[in-house]
Formats: sequence, structure tokens, C-alpha cells
Amino acid sequence: MMKYSKFVPKYALVTVALLAFACSLASAYDPSPLQDFCVAINNPASAVFVNGKFCKDPKLVTANDFFRSGLNIPGNTSNKVGSNVTAVTVEQLPGLNTLGISLARIDFAPYGLNPPHTHPRSTEFLVVIEGTLHVGFVTSNSANGNHLFTKVLNKGDVFVFPIGLVHFQLNVGNTKAVAFAGLSSQNPGVITIANAVFKSNPPINADVLTKAFQVDKNVVNYIQKQL
Ligand SMILES: *[C@@H]1O[C@H](CO)[C@@H](O)[C@H](O)[C@H]1NC(C)=O
Ligand SMILES: *[C@@H]1O[C@H](CO)[C@@H](O)[C@H](O)[C@H]1NC(C)=O
Repeated sequence: MMKYSKFVPKYALVTVALLAFACSLASAYDPSPLQDFCVAINNPASAVFVNGKFCKDPKLVTANDFFRSGLNIPGNTSNKVGSNVTAVTVEQLPGLNTLGISLARIDFAPYGLNPPHTHPRSTEFLVVIEGTLHVGFVTSNSANGNHLFTKVLNKGDVFVFPIGLVHFQLNVGNTKAVAFAGLSSQNPGVITIANAVFKSNPPINADVLTKAFQVDKNVVNYIQKQL
């Protein structure tokens, strides 16, 4: 009896190890989504893509499938926020399909803002090439909830925005600024907070927004009109 009970914890450990292994296998068979959603379809002829994009016949692949030019050209920052993102995702560079990375060039007019947004599928690595940026991100609503981390970045500085967290970059200089971002998805996605909440199509019911933001309906209408 003594001898037997001595072995029980060992079996328990093996069981736990097997379960952990099974769980890791299970995650290997359910890859992360590569777009917002992927609704199943029975007739493959009417499918648009798999989780990601269909793969080109390797015999037909050329160097140009892995190439993109033009990132030396600034985006046009003559808009309300004074910034412009030139993205190089799998849409612009088909060779990125399934590789888990993408890139962006971000141009800022003097005092221009890349407004608060999140990338639902990607961590972002930002490097400043020119100018001075005030950057930051906010943590989720947990124990030390909605904590803001900020930093002022100069030329050559890098900063990381963890996956899914709301972040922003503001040019605090009276000259233009340029940054490049590396992103950990072929299709990081962008959710600009102001647009998602106040400029959805169709609009979110005003009762939802007045209660969520604890403001009058005319404040909600005002913000909606600005966007
Ligand atoms: C960003 O710049 C490109 C190239 O100049 C331009 O076509 C595009 O409209 C600009 N986007 C915004 C949001 O201003
Ligand atoms: C930038 O965009 C503004 C507003 O859309 C436009 O008037 C201007 O001509 C554009 N500049 C360039 C260099 O394309």
C-alpha cells in the first residue's frame, strides 16, 4: 500500500505532462488567425483565401514576389491628423504570405499625430529615422489597469508596442518626422480607436456611446461629425 501510493504522484506527473503535450499539439493544429475572421465555406470554388492567402505555384515564383520599392517616398501628411502610414503587408508584398512579418513607413508633419490605435494581430517595433516622437501605449483593464507607458524618441531610438495594446505617436518637434515599424504579422490589422467607435458603418447606437463615454448625445454627434 505504502509502495503503491508512493508511485501515484509520479503517474499524476506523467498525466500532467501528457496533457501539456496534448495542449501544445492542439495549439499547433489551430493556427492564429491571419485576418479578422475566416468563415467556413463548403464549395472551395467560391472561397477567396485560406487562413492567409493561397500559395502561388513555386515554379512560377520570381524575385519580384519578394520585392517592393518606394519606401524612400514620404506619404502625404496633408490631412487632419498630420501623419501618413505607408504599409508593406502581404497585400503589397505577396512573398510575405505565412512569414509572420510586415513593415510600415510613418511620416509626420510638424506636430502630426498617428492617433491611438491597436494592431489586433501584431507587436510593433518602431525606429525613429528623423525627428522627435512622443510615443506611448496603454495596458489592458487588469490589476494595474490601463497603465500608460510613454517615452520621447529621437533619431535612432527604438520602442516596442506589445500586441493588441492601444498606442500612439505624436511628433513633438516643429520639423517633420519619419519612423519605420516592423510588425509581427503579415496582416497586422489596424483599429483606429476614434474611427472604430465613432465612425463605424453603420454607426453604433448613440445610447451605447453616451453611456460608455458618460457624455450627452450632442457630444457624441459632435465627435461623429469631426470624423
Ligand atoms: C498617404 O500618402 C499617400 C501617398 O502620398 C496618399 O495617396 C494617401 O492618400 C495618404 N493617406 C492619407 C490618409 O492622407
Ligand atoms: C497632398 O494631399 C493634399 C490633400 O489631399 C493635396 O492637396 C496635395 O496636392 C497632396 N500633395 C502631394 C505632393 O501629392
